[in-house]
Amino acid sequence: MTTAPRPSVAVIGFGAMARSLQGNLAARPQGPQITSCLLAPDSARSVPSEIAVHRTAGDLAASRPDLVVECAGHHALAEHVPQLLAAGVDVAIVSIGALCDDALRERLTRAAEAGGSRVIPVAGAVGGLDLLRAARLAGLDAVTYRGIKPPRAWAGSPAEEVFDAETLEAPLTFFEGTAREAAKAFPKNANVAAAIALAGTGLDATRVELVADPAARANCHQIEASGDFGTMSFAVENRPLPSNPKTSHLAALSIEAAVLEAFARADF
Ligand SMILES: NC(=O)c1ccc[n+]([C@@H]2O[C@H](COP(=O)([O-])OP(=O)(O)OC[C@H]3O[C@@H](n4cnc5c(N)ncnc54)[C@H](O)[C@@H]3O)[C@@H](O)[C@H]2O)c1
Repeated sequence: MTTAPRPSVAVIGFGAMARSLQGNLAARPQGPQITSCLLAPDSARSVPSEIAVHRTAGDLAASRPDLVVECAGHHALAEHVPQLLAAGVDVAIVSIGALCDDALRERLTRAAEAGGSRVIPVAGAVGGLDLLRAARLAGLDAVTYRGIKPPRAWAGSPAEEVFDAETLEAPLTFFEGTAREAAKAFPKNANVAAAIALAGTGLDATRVELVADPAARANCHQIEASGDFGTMSFAVENRPLPSNPKTSHLAALSIEAAVLEAFARADF
């Protein structure tokens, strides 16, 4: 019996998430594996020797990977993904917050149409998006996302002007607004807010509450939704990815799950 060739996956960026994905896929005897990556022109080659390095989206597209996974950030997504899609390459994206830019969303849609390719949004650090996508078909009345983190985890954001992380004693909701407003004011939280909004009621109808809680031990994401389907509440407490504490372990696992799903013959 001949063994089917392993599908080839390329990554944009080779940081914590790409590394985690590469190691986990390589450890499987079959299935997709990372064979190439796209690095920024000026960045050092710091990838395993068996992985081909490309420096432009054109070169990567010409190598015809079966799937590209963007795990490099919002700017990299805008810079490379439209060209890959237009060249007919499917791309899974993890930097969903970039989709708060309506013009970029439109560019991606047009590029995918032109190339006959697909953009696959990855759930990242949150879950429950399958339910939102299904429920919105019959109509969603309201979706609220609450992001709860320990006070110090909001350092470096506008939240620092609202409370003192060292002395806060009780939970404080320091931001309430739409997902679009939240993503703009708190770009580091944009991926989760945008993923929920785009699966459900959109960037302008999704309510966001951001909370600093001295009792929180992890970054926590809660979703509450109601509509014709009934009601839903979802909560996840994320542990960090050891190689990048700013990224949650679940976000890396969610890319792996999306890649496996993209090539699965029977996904159960
Ligand atoms: N959806 C989610 O819930 C979620 C969660 C965490 C992270 N993310 C996204 O995933 C991205 C990657 O996370 P990570 O932990 O691996 O980050 P990381 O900082 O460890 O790695 C990012 C990599 O991208 C590379 N890069 C940056 N700009 C590039 C460009 N223009 N072209 C090619 N490569 C480029 C960097 O050199 C680095 O290798 C984050 O920037 C974030 O946008 C999404």
